[in-house]
Amino acid sequence: MWRRRIRAGVLEQGTVDLLQQVGAAGRLRAEGLRHDGVVLASDGEAFRIDLHGLTGKPVTVYGQTELTRDLNEILAERDQPVFEAEDVQLHDIATDRPFVTYSKDGVARQLDCDFIAGCDGAHGVGHTHIPADVRRVYERVYPFGWLGLLADVPPCNDELIYSNHPRGFALASMRSPTRSRYYVQVGLDERIQDWPDERVWDELAVRLGPKAAGRMARGPSLEKSIAPLRSYVAEPMRHGRLLLAGDAAHIVPPTGAKGLNLAASDAHYLSDALIDFYRSGSTAGIDGYSARALARVWKAVRFSWWFTQLMHRFPGEDAFTHKVQMAELEYLANSRAGATALAENYVGLPF
Ligand code: PHB
Repeated sequence: MWRRRIRAGVLEQGTVDLLQQVGAAGRLRAEGLRHDGVVLASDGEAFRIDLHGLTGKPVTVYGQTELTRDLNEILAERDQPVFEAEDVQLHDIATDRPFVTYSKDGVARQLDCDFIAGCDGAHGVGHTHIPADVRRVYERVYPFGWLGLLADVPPCNDELIYSNHPRGFALASMRSPTRSRYYVQVGLDERIQDWPDERVWDELAVRLGPKAAGRMARGPSLEKSIAPLRSYVAEPMRHGRLLLAGDAAHIVPPTGAKGLNLAASDAHYLSDALIDFYRSGSTAGIDGYSARALARVWKAVRFSWWFTQLMHRFPGEDAFTHKVQMAELEYLANSRAGATALAENYVGLPF
């Protein structure tokens, strides 16, 4: 079943640098918001993680849908992309002459390839071509989702606020100085029709705490939806001449906004491997792609899982678990080493 995924809006410096290198950072440079810190809140207390002070790096807030638009525009100028192809099938991926068949406007077509990059997401065909006897899947499904709301109101804070509240997690994010993005943790059985805008705003006001609530402007939602959270990795990321990248190979929960950034680091490793092949004829980079990409993927999977379990209330959670969460938050608030570990992951580990 196709289910929505959250398209977060926080770019690591490595992602911004990569986009710049390929000439895709024009609008991002003009409109992206530089953030030097994030705020963590719990039970009425809030503290700031000084991302830039602790790591020397900021993050850039820029909507993923905007970035997709920028990339599509560049693609349309440089190549002749085929969108909305139907009946896509991959053939002979274990040979050095793989090919893709598809149909477009009712006409059957074939594309002969040296390599096939499967960048077609979790619901694409790419990952279905890794043979079942070599494919290993690792998964964690979380017992809650995020209800997201987008509205044309100024953000309640100039930095993101992640809040662990007795009623559940909440996040105050933004897309621009005049557009806010908010989330609340909800049960998996919740239905969007039971959440009129006012109910979401009321819940946000409680969970983000009185200070943020006092500055929170309400407005009609432009978009509102519920997405489940999960961690998922399918290994390997290469079989023969098929190389997977991004959601085709792995999913992270949105806590920490790593999904798009991981797709960017995959693309970096993949381009390295292809450039090496075409320059030197060596397949060493292609052969090593999966291991190289997965080493970074697992670190981001680990961070996203850790940040998720730190900031959410789990149904049926016992008092011990809660006390440990609160102790960890207090530790992060007071330990430079603890805060630095969070910050270095949040701004992105090196590619
Ligand atoms: C978002 O702005 O959509 C967003 C930001 C940070 C997250 C997740 C989502 O961790």
